[in-house]
Amino acid sequence: MHDFKYINNELYCEKVKVADIIKKVGSPAYIYSHKTFVEHIRKLQAAFKSVKPLICYSMKANSNLAILKAVVNEGAGLDIVSGGELYRAKKVKCPAERIVFAGVGKTEREIEDAIRYGILFFNVESLPELELIQKVARRLKCKASVSIRVNPNVDPRTHRYIATGKKESKFGIDLGLAEGVFSNTARYPNIELCAIHCHIGSQIVSGEPFVEAFKKVAAFIDEIEKKYKVKIKYLNLGGGLGVIYSNEKPQTAAQYARNILPIFKGKKYRLVFEPGRFVSANGGILVGQVIYVKRTQVKNFAIVDAAMNDLLRPSLYDAHHEVWPLKRSSRTEKEIYDVVGPVCESGDVLARERLLQKLHDGEYVAMMSAGAYGYVMASNYNSRGRAPEVLVKGSKFEIVKKREDYQTLIAGETIPAFV
Ligand code: LLP
Repeated sequence: MHDFKYINNELYCEKVKVADIIKKVGSPAYIYSHKTFVEHIRKLQAAFKSVKPLICYSMKANSNLAILKAVVNEGAGLDIVSGGELYRAKKVKCPAERIVFAGVGKTEREIEDAIRYGILFFNVESLPELELIQKVARRLKCKASVSIRVNPNVDPRTHRYIATGKKESKFGIDLGLAEGVFSNTARYPNIELCAIHCHIGSQIVSGEPFVEAFKKVAAFIDEIEKKYKVKIKYLNLGGGLGVIYSNEKPQTAAQYARNILPIFKGKKYRLVFEPGRFVSANGGILVGQVIYVKRTQVKNFAIVDAAMNDLLRPSLYDAHHEVWPLKRSSRTEKEIYDVVGPVCESGDVLARERLLQKLHDGEYVAMMSAGAYGYVMASNYNSRGRAPEVLVKGSKFEIVKKREDYQTLIAGETIPAFV
């Protein structure tokens, strides 16, 4: 599952002692295992080998260039959602025909840049967006490839902030409206409607919501192909595969393949996947140092130097990340702690009411499975510089994004003469 383990009670990432990294780069710090990322891509490739899908890693989960390069080296493409992500994809020389572009609010400039780069297709989320792509493609005198993101109205049974496939969500186009698009292709002469897209949500641990949604979508494609003589070349099934944060039992890549491949037996279109969390969550940790252990009448707080600005998921979604000490103690004494950061918010909690080995000032703890939606959601709140990111491969490691210093914090800010 991942490559963080204890050897002689010291936490290692692959072959490197995490404490040795921290000695060099300081705390807090994100640490990633190259092997864990790459192996998750390989697991998906192996599970779906029989249909040779295009796997477009959803870079919103972790878009560090070193990670993107590692993933692209494995033959994967990239799922992007902004001009900034397109820029990153170009920086790692991701072939254009392996890039898909989602998101409900693509701007004219983003659309133009992506058409010029020659991406595989846009995942279109609304009719006004389709009109804008048509307008830009006509101006550029070309045809833009488009996938219609359908909203199958399926409950993914996950946190409401990360559910996207229900009809009250802002994502996708309902099946009726989507059919309308295919019945009226003359309206879009500069668009090639070549694909259908469906992403119902994130951290989905059971197989049923996927099966339910994909059956609806496969039937929809059969219908429009028959009725409107269109040819769907790709079916993009999105991401959403759940991972283990504590005691979840998500489907494995192989189980996922077994569950869904029968739906597409005999179909001519190529499958596309956009996994984010599955590839990166378990591959990263956030290390923090205990600054103080504060005991009150009702609670023990382990106040660490990492905070909600570094890892927002627990504050935003009540998400659970395991807490592992960097040095496992032989002492048997345990205590219950809230692991909190220095930010001035009661919600700045990284882990709530955890039974941990007795902690002391100066010790280090790792927030596990922080490789997805960790660094990318970090902010400078409370004027805290972002932590560095470090990539480990075997016995080597390197800083792949440096710590933000005070200068970086104020870069771009000016004080006008009228102040
Ligand atoms: N494709 C689309 C269109 C998406 O919107 C997403 C994620 C993915 C693929 C990748 O989904 P994944 O395989 O990672 O589940 N910040 C939240 C997760 C937000 C997910 C947004 N969309 C979290 O920390 O849990």
